[in-house]
Amino acid sequence: MEIAVTLENIQQCAQYFWEHVRGRVFAFHGEMGVGKTTFIKALCAAKGVTAHVSSPTFSLINEYSYSEGNLLKHIFHIDLYRLKDEEEAVNAGIEDCLYSGNICFVEWPQKTPSLLPESRVDIYMHAVNNNTRLLKIDFHR
Ligand SMILES: Nc1ncnc2c1ncn2[C@@H]1O[C@H](COP(=O)(O)OP(=O)(O)OP(=O)(O)O)[C@@H](O)[C@H]1O
Ligand SMILES: [Mg+2]
Repeated sequence: MEIAVTLENIQQCAQYFWEHVRGRVFAFHGEMGVGKTTFIKALCAAKGVTAHVSSPTFSLINEYSYSEGNLLKHIFHIDLYRLKDEEEAVNAGIEDCLYSGNICFVEWPQKTPSLLPESRVDIYMHAVNNNTRLLKIDFHR
């Protein structure tokens, strides 16, 4: 599946994403500055996250919450850009997040190839012009 995202239609794209893509772990591939965090922010907003969403800088993992019916749910936002090795990820508890059953967004997933669950959604982002990012979404199930 492909979605063409601009800063104008991003919230509709996020809504469309949640209506069409099922999954728990979402791996975001794409070069620096392509818009991974920006789209994750829109996906969080569409779920009803009200907290500020930004890349985890000092820790590797941010946790946000939202409510679904009467349930309080959690989202993990993991940014592996600064990760030195997989051991550091294991020590930070990345696997606990990835296998928790909660929604996990992972930026720079190629840093921990052997830790990612096989049943994940891979999202590849490319800039097609100044305003548009193309998301190619691969389901592994
Ligand atoms: N669809 C879009 N169209 C145009 N600009 C965009 C789009 N999405 C994001 N941007 C802009 O691109 C810039 C970088 O976005 P963002 O921080 O989300 O990238 P990133 O992929 O998470 O970067 P990093 O690799 O550093 O984590 C932001 O200034 C943002 O406004
Ligand atoms: Mg980012």
